[in-house]
Amino acid sequence: MSRTLLLGSGWHPPLFRSEIKALFGEIEVLHPRVVLLEDSIDETFLNRISRAALVDDLLYFGGYCYGSDFSSIVDEISDWCKEQLSPGSFAVRSKKLGSGVGNISRRDLEKEVGAKLFSEINPVNLHNPDFEIVIIVAGEVEGEVHRDSFQFDPCIIWGIREKNWDKSDYLGRQPMERPFFKPISLEPRLAKLLISLAHKEENTPQNFIDPFCGTGGIAIEALIQGMDIFVSDLDPTMVHGVKKNLSWAIDGRQNLIRVEKCSVKDIANLWGPKENSIFVFDPPYGRNAWKSDDGLELFFSALEQALKIDGNSVISTMLPAGSESLENNPDTDYIVMGHPWSEIEKQINQRGWRVNLRSPVKVHKSLARMVIVCHPLH
Ligand SMILES: C[S@@+](CC[C@H](N)C(=O)[O-])C[C@H]1O[C@@H](n2cnc3c(N)ncnc32)[C@H](O)[C@@H]1O
Repeated sequence: MSRTLLLGSGWHPPLFRSEIKALFGEIEVLHPRVVLLEDSIDETFLNRISRAALVDDLLYFGGYCYGSDFSSIVDEISDWCKEQLSPGSFAVRSKKLGSGVGNISRRDLEKEVGAKLFSEINPVNLHNPDFEIVIIVAGEVEGEVHRDSFQFDPCIIWGIREKNWDKSDYLGRQPMERPFFKPISLEPRLAKLLISLAHKEENTPQNFIDPFCGTGGIAIEALIQGMDIFVSDLDPTMVHGVKKNLSWAIDGRQNLIRVEKCSVKDIANLWGPKENSIFVFDPPYGRNAWKSDDGLELFFSALEQALKIDGNSVISTMLPAGSESLENNPDTDYIVMGHPWSEIEKQINQRGWRVNLRSPVKVHKSLARMVIVCHPLH
């Protein structure tokens, strides 16, 4: 069985790896932004990977090597490619991650590997090749926004790009392009990420539940993935607006969509028991907390209600945090939603959940959000 290489977005390598683990289970990490999966690329795989928000490239795995002996690297890559290439044109592309590897020039690599592979049955075509050989010069990463403590040795990694896969784009569905827009609208990449993090390897969720749906930023992404949608909000303006947005996004799909005006405190009564559900939301805080309700209390209500609806579900959410949390030191008790994280975690546990993932994301200079994924304690 051939293996598959995924190249992650540079925006948040730790969350890229968490996302792939949630979707596929075990991964081998070659570089903070490059992971190897045992799976081969088929329709089921392409379907699954289309749920990922942070994948930049998808390759049939060729190999990887350490060290900086230029000619032996060229030989290793071209020997592998000669065995793989069927008749057809090809191009060699390269990518440098971080500071690269030793003195190796990626342009020289492209040229030398191309020269070794070039033949009558495998001509070079840089514009529209049948095969794209991708060489990743994977070095140390510096000055990243989201701190990553993953240790690795710089290496050269290669493979052949899968043609039937396109990186997620969100053309036409950015918040301001939807019929109903408010500044609280979550952007599609983050929404998709929260949904993928709520997956479990062995399972594809059927029911998507957001008790704070607002304009439906997260629900739209779940709808596109074919889930049935159960969303609610206490604000009637949002309920009206999200209906507009979901009708606009459904675009001929057959998903079940239910939208209700309801407090988070009543959603278990509203929806009743529902197996195979995920709860994905960004709870209100500050000015969009409803009247005098405290955002944190509403978050805890969501935890309690979710367990009543589906005792095997997953919660994926984002809570506001100070920018100091971006240091991501596991020993520091950062303030999340105005309280020390240790207190919040204790309360999460008391409500029957365990924290599976906690990872800060930068919003702007002085604000971060803590992405949190919880699984039931039992
Ligand atoms: C941060 S916004 C959610 C934004 C949404 N993800 C989007 O993309 O538009 C939080 C939402 O929670 C709603 N809300 C506030 N208090 C609530 C409560 N007690 N029960 C249910 N919804 C509530 C607000 O009306 C607001 O729409």
